[in-house]
Amino acid sequence: MKLTASAGLHGSITVPGDKSISHRAVMFGALADGDTHISGFLMGEDCLSTIECFRRMGVPVEISGQEVLVHGVGLHGLKAPDSPLYTGNSGTTTRLLSGILAAQPFPVTMTGDASIEKRPMGRIITPLRQMGAAIDGRDGSFCPLTIRPAALHGITYEMPVASAQLKSAVLLAGLYADGPTTVIEPAPSRDHTERMLRALGAQVESDGCRITIHAPQTLQAVDLAVPGDISSAAFFLVAGAVVPNSTLTIRDVGINPTRDGVIEVLRAMGADLTISNVREGAEPVADLTVRSSRLHGTEIKGALIPRLIDELPVLAAAAAFAEGETVIRDAQELKVKESNRITAMVNELTRAGADCTETADGMIIRGGKPLHGAAFESYHDHRIAMSMAVLALGAAGESEILNPEVVSISYPGFFDSLRMIGG
Ligand code: S3P
Repeated sequence: MKLTASAGLHGSITVPGDKSISHRAVMFGALADGDTHISGFLMGEDCLSTIECFRRMGVPVEISGQEVLVHGVGLHGLKAPDSPLYTGNSGTTTRLLSGILAAQPFPVTMTGDASIEKRPMGRIITPLRQMGAAIDGRDGSFCPLTIRPAALHGITYEMPVASAQLKSAVLLAGLYADGPTTVIEPAPSRDHTERMLRALGAQVESDGCRITIHAPQTLQAVDLAVPGDISSAAFFLVAGAVVPNSTLTIRDVGINPTRDGVIEVLRAMGADLTISNVREGAEPVADLTVRSSRLHGTEIKGALIPRLIDELPVLAAAAAFAEGETVIRDAQELKVKESNRITAMVNELTRAGADCTETADGMIIRGGKPLHGAAFESYHDHRIAMSMAVLALGAAGESEILNPEVVSISYPGFFDSLRMIGG
């Protein structure tokens, strides 16, 4: 994909549905009694992997445009698949499904692509085994995972990392446990699982970083509207902030407080960003407007990290345009995403002329150096490809994004959206 420097980005767009919420809508809809209509579903490859896994376990799922109809089979209605489940590139599918599969009365094997086979699964194997699950991984903690039938009991689990995938895997296993299950997080991670399970009638109590689920008798289907993904909106927020003469509005974006760290950080960097038309619901939604401005460096660390973990690559790109130093710390988790996102971003920002250094738990970007176009690697990682596309719009000259098709993991029409706003 070739991109050139932009003279200004303008317009009002919507971004595809939230990836985390789309996955959960299919999974929990499958386990509910009754039909779940999902609107605004993300038709990205990861969420389609989730649909395929549930179809393979006997759950009828109909797709029409961005609407999905899941015919729930109830908590105990899943059937054994006739061969291993394939989760593609999707960590959310793999980890959340592990919690559900640990409680099923049939054995199952789960496998994914080359990236999934490198991602740590020990973090879910440990608590699920404490609950009584019979789960094994290749070399102890990698995919393929094999899961055999076992009775689960409730536990209290202190999580070593702030991960919503880990939290959700344990809570989902807790749906089937013989007593309450409690997880304690080191810092709050996205809470879509808790919100959606409550909407389906489950008893889920949250008290700061401590969440308890009581195994319900049933989940009741409700219609679910998926808001626009703030992680996708983030590319346009940064593009609008760094490309001069830009004004962009991104409508209907989910602004769940466990996900809105990108707004806080861009404002701290001096971005002109307004939130309007806020609508409260199971998930809060709003319109976001950004106008170009001069950005300055900032520090991103601590409890803020889980609130913007997927936005760190594009925030690193923003930092390359900002005056002064940006320090990202406490972000070791970035090393075990779809790629090592610390190494990937430091390599590619350096290729564009930025001055940045990798650290043990993040990176330091000394911004404000002139940036130029280049041929950027994607590392088979959707968010690296999109982050470098945003950088390319603000850098001098021409750029190429290699393997651009990887954006279809979370944002199939990304480059069309960029063209629509004048990119
Ligand atoms: C997700 C949680 C995060 C995030 C991922 C989606 C989820 O991962 O990076 O893209 O839907 O629960 P971790 O739980 O590993 O932090």
